[in-house]
Amino acid sequence: MNRIHIVSNRLPVSINVENDNIELIPSVGGLATGMRSVYKEYNGKWIGWPGLPNDDLSDELKTNIDEKLKGEDCVSVHLSKEEIDLYYDGFSNRTIWPLFHYFAQHIDYDPKLWEAFVKVNQKFADKALETLEEGDTIWIHDYQLLLVPEMIKSKKPGVTVGFFLHIPFPSFEVFRILPWRKELIQGMLGADLIGFHTFDYQRHFFSCVRRLMGYEISFNEIHIEDRIIIVDSFPMGIDYDKFRDAAIQTFQKPLQEKSKLHRELEKYFLVSPNRKLILSIDRLDYSKGIPNRLQAFAKFLEEYPEFIGKVTLIMLAVPSRGTVEHYINLKREVDELVGNVNGRFGSINYTPVWYFYRSMPFENLIELYSSCDVALVTPVRDGMNLVAKEYVASRTNRTGVIILSEMAGVSKEMGEALMINPNNTGEIAQSIYQALTMPLDEQRERMIYLQDRIKRYDVFKWSSEFVKSLRKVEKLQSSIY
Ligand code: UDP
Ligand code: G6P
Repeated sequence: MNRIHIVSNRLPVSINVENDNIELIPSVGGLATGMRSVYKEYNGKWIGWPGLPNDDLSDELKTNIDEKLKGEDCVSVHLSKEEIDLYYDGFSNRTIWPLFHYFAQHIDYDPKLWEAFVKVNQKFADKALETLEEGDTIWIHDYQLLLVPEMIKSKKPGVTVGFFLHIPFPSFEVFRILPWRKELIQGMLGADLIGFHTFDYQRHFFSCVRRLMGYEISFNEIHIEDRIIIVDSFPMGIDYDKFRDAAIQTFQKPLQEKSKLHRELEKYFLVSPNRKLILSIDRLDYSKGIPNRLQAFAKFLEEYPEFIGKVTLIMLAVPSRGTVEHYINLKREVDELVGNVNGRFGSINYTPVWYFYRSMPFENLIELYSSCDVALVTPVRDGMNLVAKEYVASRTNRTGVIILSEMAGVSKEMGEALMINPNNTGEIAQSIYQALTMPLDEQRERMIYLQDRIKRYDVFKWSSEFVKSLRKVEKLQSSIY
């Protein structure tokens, strides 16, 4: 089979260097966790940034990093502090991220950021072109690399290029506000196949292509001179069996093998088996609706005081993009809100919110997923949200309730969740009550449907469907050339 190389801003592992010791840490985020399970199947390389600036690295250390990553089938694209500031923190996370998540008030329109974005995209494209051999295919991922498809296509028109966007694609009325709107579309159109999580994002993209570029679209094909580009939706799944199997093992572990967190969780229920846990897991990102969630939890405790002392919200907020202003502000806001809720409703024996500002290893995530009665997933905008799917896969006894934002891509696949509008804290508070009092039979009935659906369209199915379409468009193109 032809090799498929993956290109994404972040590699599946990030590098940490301490006293010249190179440590590999699994990267956080849906793209990394999802693709990590599948990329080895395609025998190609994963090209991306190792997650640290290269300014202070000696040549020897850089070579050692490259060697270490080679062992993981990864190829590094090194970035300087300035490139990270202008391209990654800058155009990617201060311009595109807020624009595509409908946070127009956060957008930075500085042309310097755009110039750096073009240059660094070219750097990724060059590295991909260097890695390519005859017959290889390229699969590019996400908003940081929107220009790479065109940069590769213009140099090697015969190479089949796939592109998948892991975040929402906004409606035309929002997208049009960007000064470089046409350039971004042009960049994406270098791909032969463009994939989105949902049909809505695909529809928005078509409307931008039609209105900004005037290209002809028929069904899910865009016709440009002698090229055909296929656009489709592929809702990304998870490695379902990995989560389910790990959850089964968690319950079978003897006491001495249980993690500290697991023992703490068991202790919580020892006080009274009727106590409940609500779970919240995200990167600390303003798109995730974390303040709304805390406000809704406070409202719930206010309206249903009988639950004070009996329910705890476990909030895992993974540090993310901590040098970008809006993320720094959010951290402050969340810290204050957690303090407020704990101050208002807590006592010596009761902490309403257990707040963790760090990432956790896989083992701990599984313990959280399988111990919590309710998952509170309330993003104000989210491309997909794999955490919701991971919670479902880890519920081996088929109980548990998901409260889910209708603004997350995953809501299209989870009709059995309690659906909420993330801006309606009253509705979220009511849903918390409904979830905590839902009879077990009803929980199971909903969970069975959810598990069946999420298991069937897992990450392997997702990637194989994408690759199948890529092969189809490859054949179509070769019949044209
Ligand atoms: N995750 C992780 N470590 C943590 C917390 C979360 O690796 O400490 C993972 C989680 O298992 C999930 C991903 O990060 O696979 C988050 O993906 P999601 O699609 O929910 O959101 P994103 O971060 O991509 O916006
Ligand atoms: C989201 C994006 C990914 C990104 C991840 C983590 O999932 O779609 O492209 O890798 O967040 O963000 P970071 O900025 O740390 O790579």
